[in-house]
Amino acid sequence: MTDFQALIVEEHDKQYVRRIGCRRLQDLPDGDLLVRVRYSSLNYKDALSASGNRGVTKRYPHTPGIDSAGTVVENRGGGSLRAGDPVIVSGFDLGMNTSGGFGQYIRVPEEWGVRLPASLTPKESMMYGTAGFTAAQCITAIVNYGVKPEDGDVLVSGATGGVGSIAVAILAKLGYRVVALTGKSEDAFLERIGAREILSRQTFASSPEKALLRERWAAVVDTVGGDYLATAIKSTRYGGIVTSCGNAASGDLPLTVYPFILRGIHLVGIDSANTTVAKRQELWQKLGGEWRLDFLEEICREVPLADLGSCIDLVLASRLTGRVVVNLG
Ligand SMILES: NC(=O)c1ccc[n+]([C@@H]2O[C@H](COP(=O)([O-])OP(=O)(O)OC[C@H]3O[C@@H](n4cnc5c(N)ncnc54)[C@H](OP(=O)(O)O)[C@@H]3O)[C@@H](O)[C@H]2O)c1
Repeated sequence: MTDFQALIVEEHDKQYVRRIGCRRLQDLPDGDLLVRVRYSSLNYKDALSASGNRGVTKRYPHTPGIDSAGTVVENRGGGSLRAGDPVIVSGFDLGMNTSGGFGQYIRVPEEWGVRLPASLTPKESMMYGTAGFTAAQCITAIVNYGVKPEDGDVLVSGATGGVGSIAVAILAKLGYRVVALTGKSEDAFLERIGAREILSRQTFASSPEKALLRERWAAVVDTVGGDYLATAIKSTRYGGIVTSCGNAASGDLPLTVYPFILRGIHLVGIDSANTTVAKRQELWQKLGGEWRLDFLEEICREVPLADLGSCIDLVLASRLTGRVVVNLG
């Protein structure tokens, strides 16, 4: 019997309380793959799960953490992962209704595990985490669609957030002129990671009555949804592409069909949770290889489990800049 440390979220009289406590291996769900988690990271969905959002997590007590990197302890499945192999487990149901990466052990179906590429350490992989993986999916869609740096500006919303900041940095590395949309006064941070222009979200979504706006963006990475996404679509250039991966502002999309039928805009939905293993391997390789960021340490702060609660509060208050990587010892 092994006890391990985890962040545990409990419901008491409709209040959700977080504590660091002891869990036992036999508390974990069934699954072929047992992993000793070394690093996890804090994503928007984790903050929702840790604060009782039933759209993300239905049953409490619960340990959130939608991504993790560590070492295989045991694999009872027939696949290639063996005890001692370094592995990334992210997405699917991890951290939602399956005990997640904010605990030192997880037990999951074998198919959820991807071998950690040799080019990444466990910590580096979680510095990118689900946020970086999702940014990579958005950028892959934009690049594969054929948008080139000379085609014009690329807008990134929620630019100081996890997905946003890594999207800004990778797009800038690839030579795109990135315009960052933000609600914060973090110009120095955004310029450091590669933004060439910064727009305030306080004034961005200002013409809800107009079906189309002046053409501006060759491509968009949107992490916030709502009026911001609608405005971004209305101001995307003829034939441009908009990737939608998040709803930090709203799940609504108040829009007409005119951007699509008059400007041929492509709206592409991005889901990281159920991506195929082959695609996962390809994207992690890219993050460790040609898209590797040299200044990840500057975007990330590392915290032990004990300090995670205050970071969760910052996410919920939209006051966090960059990424939080969680060290599970
Ligand atoms: N589709 C997928 O598979 C997938 C994967 C990962 C994440 N996501 C989603 O993508 C979004 C971003 O995730 P994340 O991990 O990057 O979160 P995050 O680190 O908390 O960043 C979200 C950012 O959005 C902006 N924001 C927050 N509240 C807002 C509001 N009310 N109105 C407008 N902007 C607001 C803030 O950036 P500024 O202050 O710079 O504006 C904030 O830093 C979330 O909705 C998340 O659920 C989806």
